[in-house]
Amino acid sequence: SVIRIAGICGSLRRESCNKKLIIRAQQLCAEQISEAQLDIIDWSQLPVYNQDLEDDPPKSVLKFKEEIADSDAILFATPEYNWSIPGPLKNAIDWASRVKIGDHGDVFAGKPVAIIGAGPGSYPGSSGSGRAQLILRQTLVVLNMIAINSPSVMLTGAFEAFKEDGSLKNGVMEEKIVKLLKELVISHKRLKSTI
Ligand code: FNR
Repeated sequence: SVIRIAGICGSLRRESCNKKLIIRAQQLCAEQISEAQLDIIDWSQLPVYNQDLEDDPPKSVLKFKEEIADSDAILFATPEYNWSIPGPLKNAIDWASRVKIGDHGDVFAGKPVAIIGAGPGSYPGSSGSGRAQLILRQTLVVLNMIAINSPSVMLTGAFEAFKEDGSLKNGVMEEKIVKLLKELVISHKRLKSTI
């Protein structure tokens, strides 16, 4: 059966360059990796985390968590906000790390995960989300995920990086995205074969 990668974009902005990046990753996956499918999760309706809501969690939380549980691997696309990940993205991760649904406790645990990201401008003013990516990695440790380390996909100059059709002007960057997705697939297969 097809390997399901859940895409989580850290920006809710309509014209988000990270959204453009993960949509491009989705297209590249469809075109070049027949055994995998990338579905982008809509988490825009999640409330601000409050532990009091855990006893009767909002539907949006359960839906988000189920979508993660149903996936084989995760791809984050994160912007960098003040040298960290956006608060809303951390909020989403925090929700998914808590509420228990059915057999789904730790929905992130044991899953391969990769990170991509984009930002306008060039280094050091913009790191192409690099500092945020490093901070996100820290959280992946406690979530007990299997993080792919290479290649790194940090897109600088992101407002000028895309063509009209949504592809990236820089072909090497596209190759890195495909390589990263393939690494996710390999990691998933390796895990399955050893269980
Ligand atoms: C930013 N931005 C930003 N960029 C960066 O490279 N390093 C940073 O520390 C920050 N900090 C920051 C804080 C806040 C609150 C905002 C709103 C923005 C700029 C950011 O990279 C830019 O807005 C991107 O366009 C955000 O990603 P999306 O929404 O285009 O995906």
